[in-house]
Amino acid sequence: MKGNAWASKIGFILAAAGSAIGLGAIWKFPYTTGTNGGGAFLLLFLAFTLLLGLPVLIAEFLIGRTSGKTALRAFSELGHKKYTFIGWLGVIACFLLLSFYSVIGGWVLIYIVLGFSGNLTSMNGADLGELFATVSGSPGYAITGQLIFLIITCVIVLRGVQAGIEKMSKIMMPLLFLCFIVLVVRSLTLEGAGAGVRFFIEPDFSALNRTSVLSALGQAFFSLSLGVSAMLTYASYMKERGQINRSAIWIVSLNVVVSLLAGFAIFPAVFASGLDPAEGPSLLFIVLPTVFSQIQFGSLFLILFFLLFAFASITSSIAMLEVVVSAITDRKETTTFRDKKRNTIIATILIGVIGIPSALSFGMASDITWMDKTVFDWMDFTVSNILMPIGALLISFFAGFKLDRALVEQELVTSPLMKRLLPFWRFSICYLSPLAILIILIWPLFGS
Ligand code: TRP
Repeated sequence: MKGNAWASKIGFILAAAGSAIGLGAIWKFPYTTGTNGGGAFLLLFLAFTLLLGLPVLIAEFLIGRTSGKTALRAFSELGHKKYTFIGWLGVIACFLLLSFYSVIGGWVLIYIVLGFSGNLTSMNGADLGELFATVSGSPGYAITGQLIFLIITCVIVLRGVQAGIEKMSKIMMPLLFLCFIVLVVRSLTLEGAGAGVRFFIEPDFSALNRTSVLSALGQAFFSLSLGVSAMLTYASYMKERGQINRSAIWIVSLNVVVSLLAGFAIFPAVFASGLDPAEGPSLLFIVLPTVFSQIQFGSLFLILFFLLFAFASITSSIAMLEVVVSAITDRKETTTFRDKKRNTIIATILIGVIGIPSALSFGMASDITWMDKTVFDWMDFTVSNILMPIGALLISFFAGFKLDRALVEQELVTSPLMKRLLPFWRFSICYLSPLAILIILIWPLFGS
């Protein structure tokens, strides 16, 4: 099938940033920071993002851009057919990822609807906790939300990812920032906010254990969508040379900024209202309405925020589905748009079916656990903390040792400064990232 292409330079950055910024930065980052003791986790997350995330992101962009092919064809196109399993790993990971990502996406959609009732901003912490338990715990809500989220994702992928995202992101992303700024200012000026700020930025290393380090790595990779061929796929639609460094730096920065904004919106309010930062997945859904309740026109802001939040999650979910569909579709030279359509619908249905146990994990199936983890927890753990780091490791290795050096230089050396930085990138990708990932992956196996 004829390849896709981004309409503009900014189109690629917007789409890749859209894939990165989503539930990871806004929902998962604050709650995992909360359950892992705050500041020290933040520091680890930032270090991993810069030292490992950025180089691996560049590596993934390189493979996509230089091959011009999606997950299952990129490696053979570059002359290394036997590495196609890296693409398969990505496709499977994205498939599984969307099956549980859509559960949380569904909650966000339901909160938009609840926002219209206007009640959310008049509830106290306990009521909000109960409401969250109902939304996440009742099969009706959970599965309906998940289904609608998947249908929206499917429809956008069916209509072609490019045009839609480029146009919408230009409006929605800046709005999301604005909305966050309002939230952060309000949260920081609540009485007792200081304790939350200290919790978030003062590192207390005694709060960390071995699994926290793995979680911080998982979070860094998860929120940059790394290791699962998503960034590879989007970069394969990039037609010009020499955009990689700049795009990667933009995406990493935007992602860090949104994560920090989420932290500064949530933690001060958590402490100001006497809630528990280690609350878990419900954190954002309980805390943010209490902040909005203290803002003029809070109910309106709340709706706007959840709308933008849903948009950010959908620009991520379409990337996941696009990875799966484009990979399967591009495997054969002769496929048509009709094949792509059919594949999109079949993939969405399968993902929905596989996702049902995850959707039920907060209610009916919450007792079905193994080693204290529900089905949802296992899915998340397997994808975020195992498949993503392994994928990132393999991608580093491939970009470091297999990718043609001249090709890499053509892409990355865009200025004298970049020429000087290239050896650092090489060192990181060949040795630092693989080694660090390996150590962090096997470390929790030796007790905790
Ligand atoms: N980065 C996304 C988020 O923070 C989640 C994500 C992980 C992702 N891997 C991905 C999105 C692959 C698209 C494709 O919400």
